[in-house]
Amino acid sequence: MSFLSRLFSKKPETPTEDFIFVDMHSHLIPAIDDGSKSLEESVSLVKSLKELGYKKIVTTPHIMGDFFKNSRESIMPGLKILKEKLAEENIDIAIEAAAEYYLDEWFMEKLEKDEPLLTFGKNYVLFETSYMNESHQLHQAIFMMRSKGYIPVLAHPERYTYLYQGFEHFQTIYEMGVLFQINLNSLAGYYSKPAKLFAEKLIDHKMVDFAGTDCHGERHLDALRKVKNTPYYNKLRTLPLLNNSLLS
Ligand SMILES: [Fe+2]
Repeated sequence: MSFLSRLFSKKPETPTEDFIFVDMHSHLIPAIDDGSKSLEESVSLVKSLKELGYKKIVTTPHIMGDFFKNSRESIMPGLKILKEKLAEENIDIAIEAAAEYYLDEWFMEKLEKDEPLLTFGKNYVLFETSYMNESHQLHQAIFMMRSKGYIPVLAHPERYTYLYQGFEHFQTIYEMGVLFQINLNSLAGYYSKPAKLFAEKLIDHKMVDFAGTDCHGERHLDALRKVKNTPYYNKLRTLPLLNNSLLS
């Protein structure tokens, strides 16, 4: 086969094919947060993620004192129902659940009471903060997570406007031992221009440890299919991401 015929006969590339096999940020447990609204929607989203090349999903419902008071007790039964439905429909994919903790009083209380957190992989804890205002407890929360043996993973650092004042804010948090997870859709400008620019800058500085879909619904998958066409997607491929280490 000539080079040209090989080139043109190649199947269209998907964002995750031969690159990221494991997603570790999504909202796919039916009707417990602002993600999937039904079991049918969850099944359809998982099916699409599988078609995009994912072999494993760690789904991470919101845990947030104000809106989504989730816990192991609401998440794990939802996961069980989803897994049963996937098996029934012969959709073969590994799926686990952890959580995306919002940094609020409720979270601080859990840390203070030493409540076991929902983790994935090597004791990773995915957490997020307010988009607009820096929490006065950010440094304390990081310190407490680390001292309890967790590895904090900050969800989508590129989306927090309070960090836009200067890149050194990102560096300070990173140097405190926090891993960074960018959203793949940021690379396509899905959220905002500054989010795209900061995601790119984090890639330039090799300060990205995980890349996630943060899939809440079909809209995120539509955007994800375009990410592969961005120059920074290729640059991301050169970083030693930890996603695939979660496969086993
Ligand atoms: Fe999320």
